[in-house]
Amino acid sequence: MKHLIDVLDLTVQEIDALIERAADIVEHPDRYAHVCARKKLAALFFEPSTRTRLSFEAAMYELGGNVIGFSDADSSSAAKGESVSDTIRVVCSYADIIAMRHPKEGAPMVASLKSTVPIINAGDGGHNHPTQTLTDLFTIRREFGRLDGLTIGCCGDLKFGRTVHSLLNAMSRYTGVKFVLISPEELRVPEYLRKELLVERNLDYVETTDLESALPDLDVLYMTRVQRERFFNEQDYIRLKDSYVLTREKMALAKDTARILHPLPRVNEISVDVDDDPRAAYFRQAENGKYIRMALIMKLLEVEV
Ligand code: CP
Repeated sequence: MKHLIDVLDLTVQEIDALIERAADIVEHPDRYAHVCARKKLAALFFEPSTRTRLSFEAAMYELGGNVIGFSDADSSSAAKGESVSDTIRVVCSYADIIAMRHPKEGAPMVASLKSTVPIINAGDGGHNHPTQTLTDLFTIRREFGRLDGLTIGCCGDLKFGRTVHSLLNAMSRYTGVKFVLISPEELRVPEYLRKELLVERNLDYVETTDLESALPDLDVLYMTRVQRERFFNEQDYIRLKDSYVLTREKMALAKDTARILHPLPRVNEISVDVDDDPRAAYFRQAENGKYIRMALIMKLLEVEV
């Protein structure tokens, strides 16, 4: 049995196969309409979500399966003090696969140690969000036709933004990728990530605080929200929250072929007047999340067409 806790649990070949499968689902949805008949997904969301939870649910329904679960820790027995381990031991007797979001880093890993069914990490604290990364990779592949040889700018909260951490890990395995890390000093990528990934693996990266000067070189600009829920004090959040706002004027600095990605939700780091720009790919990206999660559910349940 296999779980997905970190995107690095998957080889590059496995990721490529998931992307191919997702692309085939887009082309031929009817072929997949019943492959998970009589299977159940448990969506255990101990933290708020719109896209991840609903795209998992839509994915399972479109595969012919069913969904159980909760969208709020307060409506589960976690509110009475039940541990993650006990919750999982019970839920895996009700469901064939579990997608779990939790505010504590490592909670899905703990769950995987107790589970008799596959666990998918749907986001754990500021740590990882591997299915968002699969969504991002599928989106980049659909938009550019490749994952190699791209300059990827990540902008905003690179300290607490788990989607960026997973994306850097995943894209670092493709050749000729350059990273431009754009953030306020206080929100730079965590030291462990800089040392263990960027430096030790000798990746091509620069860090800057200046979005405008970085924009003309980027193929992908991956914007992120400042993660209010992970700040220790409100004053720091208020001071940093508007550090970067991508506007239509700033888009004039970007390449004609550039693409803007954002895991969403956005607050105000991308002005709504950018939404109509064909280079704005973030709503296409959110839709792609459903197809890649369909491919992932099929892989972990070992079902075929
Ligand atoms: N991108 C993402 O994880 O969105 P949700 O928090 O709405 O699931």
